[in-house]
Amino acid sequence: MFYLNNYHIDILTRNVPCPIRLNVELTTNCNLKCVMCRGSQNYVEGNKAGRHLTVEDFARILNGIDLNRLKVLNLAGSAESLLNPDILPILALCRENKIIVELITNGMLLTPQISKQLIGYSSEIHVSFGGSRRETFEAIRQGADFELICKNIKTLSKLKKENNQRYPQIWINPILMKRNIQELPEVIALAKELDCHGVACSHLIVDSPELIRESLFFHKQEANHYLQKAEEVAKRDQISFVRPAYFSQESDDDGKRETIEAWKTCRFLWNYAILGVEGLIPCSGSGDLKLDCDGNVIRNKFMDIWNNGWYAGMRYKLLTGNPPQCCINCTDPSVKDPNHIGSYFKEEVFSDAFDYAKKELTRSQKGEFDQRECSVLSSNEHISG
Ligand SMILES: C[S@@+](CC[C@H](N)C(=O)[O-])C[C@H]1O[C@@H](n2cnc3c(N)ncnc32)[C@H](O)[C@@H]1O
Ligand code: SF4
Ligand code: SF4
Repeated sequence: MFYLNNYHIDILTRNVPCPIRLNVELTTNCNLKCVMCRGSQNYVEGNKAGRHLTVEDFARILNGIDLNRLKVLNLAGSAESLLNPDILPILALCRENKIIVELITNGMLLTPQISKQLIGYSSEIHVSFGGSRRETFEAIRQGADFELICKNIKTLSKLKKENNQRYPQIWINPILMKRNIQELPEVIALAKELDCHGVACSHLIVDSPELIRESLFFHKQEANHYLQKAEEVAKRDQISFVRPAYFSQESDDDGKRETIEAWKTCRFLWNYAILGVEGLIPCSGSGDLKLDCDGNVIRNKFMDIWNNGWYAGMRYKLLTGNPPQCCINCTDPSVKDPNHIGSYFKEEVFSDAFDYAKKELTRSQKGEFDQRECSVLSSNEHISG
């Protein structure tokens, strides 16, 4: 049993230290149109439009936060950070301030010049991947050049070796779906060839109706089969492999949204902040959660917003077990149940996905689904070597 007085509550709600992890969106532009990504709507020919964080504004943000507390600066956002015209001075500023950078990139602009700025000062670089074959890769990550991305990764690995550095760890990150799952074991082999540390894969989250059938939730046997093959290759090649949990046969497809109480393990509000180009975004667990104030950390001090009435009120609600509705419905991917249909589809396509699930289940009961799955499995057995 815990007993909290007003002094304790004040410390936990309005005197919270600077977060240890900060995600910063450096640009709203993207140079690819990946089929599964809303960021593809940010595609801008020639990088002319859109918004970028300038190095001056980045310096202002750093001035407003406690750099002794901040452990990781994550550069991912919902676009392509390396398109920011100030990327080199921004990385140089991170180096000067000894800030560890974690980068998630599509790899197209991971030039030797940028790689050199990251060596020794970045913990991890994740290069998002489509598949092990050029055709699959470029069909998913539209506008990408498979050969160039592999070459960029290889150059980064080489520079790391030449500089005798263990960091950054280089990871390849495929988003798993029906059209690329068969290539996962080969992606691991390719990671070895490119001298990467590991492969970190995750499932496709579907937010448009045309991708519903791409979800591996409808291809559980096949997904488990290739995850297992990939695991074997990873072991053989000594590649770190981060994968989603295996599907269980009893995967829950009851048509209800998840009821996991994600708010009880909320990783935002106390530890983790997201800075969009427009300002502070409270979390990635709910699109409905909006600050009730100006969240622009260039006009306002970060710590003033971080400990304002809105944040204090939200923290109080979670600590006292009275979360608002958006936290009850939290969709933070870090707390999702991998065997639940609700983990794979955004709210807007969920009812279509559920209808599709019912149809697939009927086919499966009639035997059609299983047969088709099995024929896919046997026609791909060669991959296991
Ligand atoms: C939005 S991107 C931004 C960073 C960079 N542009 C990139 O592609 O790595 C961040 C990650 O989200 C992944 N992603 C995009 N759409 C997704 C979806 N519908 N489901 C799961 N992951 C997705 C991308 O593959 C990428 O690894
Ligand atoms: S490169 Fe990244 S942000 Fe751009 S469309 Fe692809 S996944 Fe989305
Ligand atoms: S919706 Fe609520 S519980 Fe979920 S991440 Fe956001 S603040 Fe935390």
